[in-house]
Amino acid sequence: MTKSLVLLVAALDAITGVSAFFRMECRGRLAMARIDPLVNNNEVGQHVHAIHGSNGFSESSVYKDLRGGDCTSCAAKEDMSAYWTPNMYFQHDDGTFEAVEQIGGMLSYYLFRDPKNNVKAFPEGFQMIAGSNYRRDYPLGDADKPDPPQSNWKAMGQTNQADLEQRALGFNCLDYSKAPEASLFRHFMPTKDYLDQNCPDGIRLELAFPSCWNGKDVDSKDHKSHMAYPDLVQDGNCPEGFDTRLVTLFYEIIWATNDFKGKPGKFVVSNGDPTGFGFHGDFINGWEPDFLQDVVGNCTNPSGEISDCHLLTLQSEAEQNKCKINPPGVLAKENVLGKKLGKQLLKALPGNVPIQAGPQSATPYADGGAGGFFTSLFGGGKPKDTPSSTFSAPTLTYQPGSSSMYPGGGIFLEATTSSTPIPAPVAPSSPSSAPAKPTFKQALAAPSPATTPAPAVASDPNVSYEIVSTQTVTNGAQVQEVVWEEAVKYVTEDVVTTTTVYSGIAGRSEQHRSHLRRHGHGGHRV
Ligand SMILES: *[C@@H]1O[C@H](CO)[C@@H](O)[C@H](O)[C@H]1NC(C)=O
Ligand SMILES: *[C@@H]1O[C@H](CO)[C@@H](O)[C@H](O)[C@H]1NC(C)=O
Repeated sequence: MTKSLVLLVAALDAITGVSAFFRMECRGRLAMARIDPLVNNNEVGQHVHAIHGSNGFSESSVYKDLRGGDCTSCAAKEDMSAYWTPNMYFQHDDGTFEAVEQIGGMLSYYLFRDPKNNVKAFPEGFQMIAGSNYRRDYPLGDADKPDPPQSNWKAMGQTNQADLEQRALGFNCLDYSKAPEASLFRHFMPTKDYLDQNCPDGIRLELAFPSCWNGKDVDSKDHKSHMAYPDLVQDGNCPEGFDTRLVTLFYEIIWATNDFKGKPGKFVVSNGDPTGFGFHGDFINGWEPDFLQDVVGNCTNPSGEISDCHLLTLQSEAEQNKCKINPPGVLAKENVLGKKLGKQLLKALPGNVPIQAGPQSATPYADGGAGGFFTSLFGGGKPKDTPSSTFSAPTLTYQPGSSSMYPGGGIFLEATTSSTPIPAPVAPSSPSSAPAKPTFKQALAAPSPATTPAPAVASDPNVSYEIVSTQTVTNGAQVQEVVWEEAVKYVTEDVVTTTTVYSGIAGRSEQHRSHLRRHGHGGHRV
């Protein structure tokens, strides 16, 4: 039997029965600075972060400070939360660094995922971290391979919190001329060569936060243990003692790694992590809880567009961009960008953070670490990088999104609105190409049922298709249905294969039947 995966996408005008969500756009960035009120409260942060949200944010800010801010770099004025993650650097071959440009700010999805449909708003004072700064390995298995199907995770013993945390990280290779990769498909940073060859539109870092709350603590010492992931990262069941389902936060940030195409060097996260396994993010709630609860209850338009949420007061991108903070003390003058502002390339990562490639855990770095705001930034000298000769990035090659990995989940949005390039359909491969070649087809929202040409592989009359799984995909303002089929090669003659994709049909229960009709007659699998 010859098998190949064929991806068909049918656009839907509307869809019912899926978890609602909206995506908070934060086009503005408050600052790029070594500030981290959760980890380095009231001191200089260890590494640089890209920071978004309320300008009440500071090295010591808490809920009331964020509420007291007078602007937010996000789209809804009511959202005075703070969102921050490490940023990306490029290290040139001569050892110097410069910041990689961030595209479109960031997006923070608010996903209402709860089988009991009882998602709670973040309480006052709520804050949390997702991810582990010092992690440099992937003990879960082979990072080279796509995740096993979610339904197997439990049996494989892969549902403890450390495991789920690793699966909550994504490094999405962006090529807008292709079908998007699934969210959280790749859990490590691809090599420079891989990015150069495959990701002409950069890389999107993704981070899902835990959504199961212990119901009483708004924070914990490690800023993590008051929360837990449900057993499928974003979906599934909460562990015992973490029964309150909060909004699932999901961050997306695009880095223009493509700016460095052809230049020798490597990418490294600001925390000295070239592997990506130590990527993480922070959140401090800045919503008024009763109001956010109303938003959760009302803003259920399947488009996910915040403009469809009439409770929110939206502000323009220009206004979002105006909202800034001034880093305190010595940080005000710290060059965190490298070349971009006409400044010097950096001799080290800001904070003198050493590059630690693992696989052993990174160690806290003394001279690059926390210190007073008025001590010298440059006292530490050159950081000691750990030898990285043993480190070789895994390779997991591009693959369009598949629901066998994230049934009903996965987020495929680009981080730009007006200029969102909708992935163009890939031209069917020539009839002479082998059936083993995956083909991608996409039918954009058509007013009436549209028939797509049979996939190129169907030019082999002995190939038929079987639906393996389906998945909903949000692409820009469109919710789409992805249907995965497996091409099965039959040997008997008189095989007829007709592939029809209907669009514009709402209702999840109908998708399997309505969106794809195939008529295959005769034949047996070989
Ligand atoms: C929708 O918002 C209104 C306030 O505008 C609130 O009274 C109502 O309870 C909300 N609905 C739900 C289902 O949360
Ligand atoms: C299809 O299968 C038949 C019978 O096995 C074979 O004779 C024929 O060559 C096959 N056609 C193609 C295009 O592979």
